[in-house]
Order: sequence, then structure tokens, then C-alpha cells
Amino acid sequence: MTATRQTQVTVTLNDGHEIPQLGLGVWELSPEDAYSSTRAAITAGARHIDTAAAYGNESEVGRAIADAVADGEVTREDLYVTTKLWNADQAPGKAAEAIDTSLANLGLDHVDLWLIHWPVPSYGRYVEAWRALIDARAQGKATSIGVSNFYPEVLDEIIDATGVVPAVNQIELHPGFSQAAQRADDARRGIVTEAWSPLGRGLLEHPVITAIAEAHGVHPAQVIVRWHLQQGIVVFPRSRNPERVRQNLDVDGFELTDEQIARITALDDDPAAAGRVGADPREAAFGLPDDVTE
Ligand SMILES: NC(=O)c1ccc[n+]([C@@H]2O[C@H](COP(=O)([O-])OP(=O)(O)OC[C@H]3O[C@@H](n4cnc5c(N)ncnc54)[C@H](OP(=O)(O)O)[C@@H]3O)[C@@H](O)[C@H]2O)c1
Repeated sequence: MTATRQTQVTVTLNDGHEIPQLGLGVWELSPEDAYSSTRAAITAGARHIDTAAAYGNESEVGRAIADAVADGEVTREDLYVTTKLWNADQAPGKAAEAIDTSLANLGLDHVDLWLIHWPVPSYGRYVEAWRALIDARAQGKATSIGVSNFYPEVLDEIIDATGVVPAVNQIELHPGFSQAAQRADDARRGIVTEAWSPLGRGLLEHPVITAIAEAHGVHPAQVIVRWHLQQGIVVFPRSRNPERVRQNLDVDGFELTDEQIARITALDDDPAAAGRVGADPREAAFGLPDDVTE
């Protein structure tokens, strides 16, 4: 059992700032659901919200934060807000404007963490995008900066070009795709790994997960959240259902054994556990400006 609530546990980034290890993600939530899930998460103790320009809900996340602050539930300083620079905004001259638009939508003067959403290697603008985030940090618009969906070769390029190591790398990561190699590469560089789609697909019904959940008297989603947390991974499951938002944050009452973590990790080799569910970052080339043809 942990003495500190998991929603209060933080991980130290390579720039010295602290990031809450457990939070809420809002991808694919309608603006209304993004508002209600963010409110429910904050009320349940979450201090970390992960959004993106591309999610179309920065305004409602910002409104939920403003309302929670106005209601005296939290202060802005209590909260950790992440957003992401969209692929189209890697176009020359676009990033600075996109950064200001996101801040205006969020109603914030800075975010805690700004990420490049995807490298889009075929477009080849990720070094310029990284320089734009370095500028945003220098201007106080982001406290920390990082990347998402980056792999060793593109990490090498942005670090070699700028000397600035990302604070985090947010990648697809769940028991069906546990990314041992990229996690080791991130760790070697001092980069904290964050998990996207942390619950995977179909894993909540997988017999290995349901058996461990039953043994602890908890929900399978809570087992998967603990699998991430106990390995030092930063995780922010998403739900449009406030009850599930609370459930996913309520993981203080049990701990997985090393043997249970190993059994869950072994799902990586189980064809029934799905493997990768999202796009391969080496190939992904969506969301580019209209005038770019692949
Ligand atoms: N950087 C990137 O490229 C990238 C890509 C994808 C995601 N992300 C980030 O990562 C966050 C999390 O990933 P995700 O949204 O893909 O998926 P996820 O959190 O792994 O799973 C969300 C799905 O699980 C269901 N769910 C959640 N909690 C549940 C529970 N307790 N019981 C049963 N079902 C539950 C949700 O349905 P209901 O809503 O119906 O509960 C939804 O269908 C995103 O929201 C986003 O912030 C980033």
C-alpha cells in the first residue's frame, strides 16, 4: 500500500520539474465530455491533464480548469497541463502562431509541458518544430518541453541539432505493446516515458488481466494503471464516463506483485493481446498542411 495517494505522486524530469505520474487524457472526447471528465478528474484528485491542439477540446479543458479554480477546488499552480503542437503546424512559420492559439484556447499564459505530437519523418520538419518549442520555453509559454511518438533516430537528430534533450517522450504503450526497447532508449537519455492508449484494446477482457483483477478485488483498468505506475511510467487514461474517470484514479488500495507484473508484461508476446493499436510513427504522415502531398 502507498502512503501517498497516487494522484499526488510525481516523477522528476531532466529539467528539474516534477510531473504528476497519474492523470487524465482527453483524446477523442467531445468538447462537452472533455469538460465533464476534466472536472470529474480534478474533483477525484487528478492534477495532470493531457490534451492537444488536434483534440479540438483545449477550450473546454481550459474552461474546466478555470471553473475548478473559481470554485476553490485547486489553484492553477496545483495543476499540470500538457498540450501538443499539431503536425500541420510544423510548417515553416506556423509553430509560433499555433502555440499562441493553443494558449488562447486554454485560457492560460503557459502550459507545464508542450510536446511535438508526431515526428512525421516524411515531412522532415521536426528539428524546426523542436526549435519552436525551445523558443516557447524561453518565452515562458511552456515550463517543460518534450516529444511524442519519437524513436531513436529522430531523437538523435533533434538532440544533435539543438543540444536540448526532451523531458518526456509520449508513446503508445500498454501490456499488449510494452515498448521495452524505446523505454530503455528513453531512460538512457534521461527522458521520462509517458504511455498513450495505456489500456490498449481488448485488454480489459483478457483472462490474465481479469484474473489478477479478481485476485485484488479491483477493475481490470485499475490493474493496467498499476502496471504502468509500478514501472515508473507516466499514465493518463481517458474516459467520457465520470465514474470510470474516478475508478482509473483510485488505485491506492492494492499493489501488483513482481510476478503479476511479469505475467502482464508477457502479454507482449500474446497474439490475443493486440500489439500496436495506433499508427507507426516511422510511417505516420497525417495532419499535414493542405498544400503538402505525400
Ligand atoms: N501522443 C499521441 O499520439 C496520443 C495518441 C493517443 C492517445 N494519447 C493520449 O493518451 C490518452 C489515453 O489514451 P487513449 O485515450 O487512446 O485510450 P485509453 O485511456 O487507453 O483508453 C480509453 C478507452 O478505454 C475506455 N475506458 C477507460 N476507462 C475505463 C474503465 N475504467 N472501464 C472500462 N473502460 C474504460 C474508454 O471508454 P469510455 O470513455 O466509454 O469509458 C475508452 O474507450 C489520450 O486521451 C491522450 O491524452 C496520445
